[in-house]
Amino acid sequence: MEYAQVKEYVQKNKQRFLDELMELLRIPSVSAKPEHEPDMLRMADAVKTKLIAAGADKVEVCATKGYPVVYGEKIIDAKLPTVLVYGHYDVQPAEPLELWDSPPFEPVIKKTAVHPEGAIFARGSCDDKGQMYMHIKSFELMMQTKTLPCNVKFMIEGEEEVGSANLGEWVKTNKEKLKADIILISDTSMIGNKTPSIDVGLRGLAYMEVEVTGPNRDLHSGVYGGAVANPINILCDMIASMHDKNNHITIPGFYDNVIKLSPKERKELNKAPFKLKDYKKDLAIDEIFGEKGYTTLERTGIRPTLDVNGIWGGYIGEGAKTVLPAKAFAKISMRLVPGQDSHKISKLFQKHFEKMAPKCVKVKVKAHHGGEPVVVPTNSKAYQAAAKAVEESFGKKPIPTRGGGSIPIVALFKKELGLDSILFGFGLDSDALHSPNEHYGVFNYFKGIETIPLFYKNYVAGGK
Ligand code: BES
Ligand code: MN
Ligand code: MN
Repeated sequence: MEYAQVKEYVQKNKQRFLDELMELLRIPSVSAKPEHEPDMLRMADAVKTKLIAAGADKVEVCATKGYPVVYGEKIIDAKLPTVLVYGHYDVQPAEPLELWDSPPFEPVIKKTAVHPEGAIFARGSCDDKGQMYMHIKSFELMMQTKTLPCNVKFMIEGEEEVGSANLGEWVKTNKEKLKADIILISDTSMIGNKTPSIDVGLRGLAYMEVEVTGPNRDLHSGVYGGAVANPINILCDMIASMHDKNNHITIPGFYDNVIKLSPKERKELNKAPFKLKDYKKDLAIDEIFGEKGYTTLERTGIRPTLDVNGIWGGYIGEGAKTVLPAKAFAKISMRLVPGQDSHKISKLFQKHFEKMAPKCVKVKVKAHHGGEPVVVPTNSKAYQAAAKAVEESFGKKPIPTRGGGSIPIVALFKKELGLDSILFGFGLDSDALHSPNEHYGVFNYFKGIETIPLFYKNYVAGGK
């Protein structure tokens, strides 16, 4: 297969490829919100229809204990390698809606400074419908041009954004179905459209929720204030104490198993282009922040974190109500790096939080979902095939990078199926994933569709 042939097919089908993605983006498949259950099922069905149309066999919507997994395959020869494509059809909630310039589930294409060719604005455009759909279109392309060089299986899940809690079990009970040689995932970012990169790491996650209880009821803050502990004040103190002045996390044992990179590895990692000025400008911040002794790339790539995701309690309505609240709550997540284990870290957090609580309050700690960190070897045939594919389509060698986000199922794939994943992401960090005005570059969408077939070609040429 020649690259010219791939480009020609994409060129001819551009408008239809865009229209089809727009169709999927109109379905508000928000896994976190129960009222979207019908949309989730509609979305799973739509993915099934698209897989069939692209030429997949045995396409089915597989029930799990949560939202279904959509499966499809094309087996051309059992002796050839098999690529297992993973993606997710669920999206994050679109809220706060008032901050969107156009409705989140009514996709529109607009030009931006970063995307002069235009970007598709909609929730899920980048994370992950746009990136997932590239694979279905690349597959169509290879089917139509009779250039599919190996077997392919698709598993597109619906619970990634809520922690893939039911997927582990489904994978365990479907090992035969999922038998493959490599997993291919487009659900991460590149440095820039002129600076291609491939993530070779993902952080893990331990997500906690805490409840701090003071008195048995909300109190008059004048009558009791100053004499009874305010659980919000206490919670703030407890949260603040979990970082020291150097922004190290103070939970005992937290860093015990963190794998430290050698000075050489750190130097390599910091070679990736990074412009502090642009970074600050994109986020409208005057100064960056973080753990002392590490660069921004290291802070997001190889160091663990602890962040409050939400905090509430007391009176938050209009005007002022004088109240000393009975309860305070927070959702706190920790991003983990190689060496750390989400279960161990959750336990350390719980122990520490319970121990440091002053006697004047009671605390409850609950662990939500978690996931383990991942490192992708770069000396594998699969990584080399991906790097070569990027070089062929972008005209530049990709830079291996460590992504700061998490895809919990990737570590599980390794554990349960013994398979490595290639994180073949084509989004940009500035595409506002999880934020209002999420978008995905039209350039990135087509470039992805063009690059994926080259991966297949190189991977098969490289042998098993
Ligand atoms: N696609 C993201 C993960 C991601 C984004 C990795 C950019 C690297 C670069 C994924 O959909 C996601 O948002 N994952 C969640 C994990 C989860 C358990 C909800 C995350 O990272 O917060
Ligand atoms: Mn994603
Ligand atoms: Mn996401």
